[in-house]
Amino acid sequence: MEFGALPLILLLLVTIFTLTPSVTSCPPSDRAALMAFKSSLSEPYLGIFKTWSGTDCCHNWYGVSCDPTNSRVADINLRGESEDPIFERAHRTGLMSGQISPEICKLDRLTTLVVADWKSISGPIPACITSLSALRILDLVGNRLSGPIPADIGKLSRLTVLNVADNQISGVIPASLPDLSSLMHLDLSGNRISGPIPKNFGKLQMLSRALLARNQLSGEIPSSISTIYRLADLDLSGNRISGSIPAAIGRMAVLSSLYLDGNQISGGIPASLLQSKGLNILNLSRNAIDGQIPDVFVPTSYFMEMDLAYNRLSGPIPKSLTSAAYIGHLDLSHNHLCGVIPTGSPFDHLEASSFVSNDCLCGVPLRIC
Ligand SMILES: *[C@@H]1O[C@H](CO)[C@@H](O)[C@H](O)[C@H]1NC(C)=O
Repeated sequence: MEFGALPLILLLLVTIFTLTPSVTSCPPSDRAALMAFKSSLSEPYLGIFKTWSGTDCCHNWYGVSCDPTNSRVADINLRGESEDPIFERAHRTGLMSGQISPEICKLDRLTTLVVADWKSISGPIPACITSLSALRILDLVGNRLSGPIPADIGKLSRLTVLNVADNQISGVIPASLPDLSSLMHLDLSGNRISGPIPKNFGKLQMLSRALLARNQLSGEIPSSISTIYRLADLDLSGNRISGSIPAAIGRMAVLSSLYLDGNQISGGIPASLLQSKGLNILNLSRNAIDGQIPDVFVPTSYFMEMDLAYNRLSGPIPKSLTSAAYIGHLDLSHNHLCGVIPTGSPFDHLEASSFVSNDCLCGVPLRIC
């Protein structure tokens, strides 16, 4: 009899727990963390934080959602540019000032933190953010955040998206960043990040987009990048990167866009880059690249954009370029090229501006030879 009563008691306990309001609405500690987050920000035009009232932060708080199994806050999703009706009614994009309170680090079940495109949020990225071990998406693009990327960012083993582009982040790329073993999308563009790209950057084996443009990065392109099998887009433009282009980059399986323009890159153009099957956007302009353009184009060569302008390239325009399937935008201007501009389909639509300021190019669309 005594043992027979046990399941009944358990059932009773389970019933009590599932009916207790603390399980279906957000815990007071999560609510308190959100209130602290709210109180360090000011959003004067849309009134999104007016919805952040009452005890249950899991229901009808703009941009907040909870894990239904435990009612813990799982997502904060606040975008200052959105098609949400709240923006349409206000006829404007969002503007928010203030800072991101470190109190959000108490939301230890957070998987998504998006506080994007609010233009005026300043102050640092709270260093404690690296303790949010469930975090998958960290998107703080388009604010005015300053200070460094937290040094131990590499602890976030579940992070798939790290986007802090278009802020005023300074310091170096943390040595721990290549430890982000789940990272697929990295965007640090448009900040003030200096120092080298870590040599072991290639540890980021899940990465498909690496956007590091418009910073103050220096040193060489780590050759380990070429081991990132899934990398489709690599943008290092507008930095102070020097050294030569690792030939192995041209042999990457799915690389489709490579932007290295506006750096201090020297050496020649690896033939592999022009022979790559997937690469169709290549911008090497405004560097110190020299030597001849490798004569390696084939009938499957397909480039939507190939910008080699403002370098130190010499010799002729390779004849094999006329056999390419398609070359959309080609810019060879401001180099030291010499000789006859080949005739053929890829050249038919090009204007003189693609060839000007070389040593001695001639033929259509420039002067006759
Ligand atoms: C290549 O980069 C240069 C310099 O950053 C830029 O001016 C140019 O428009 C880019 N070329 C293409 C085809 O986008």
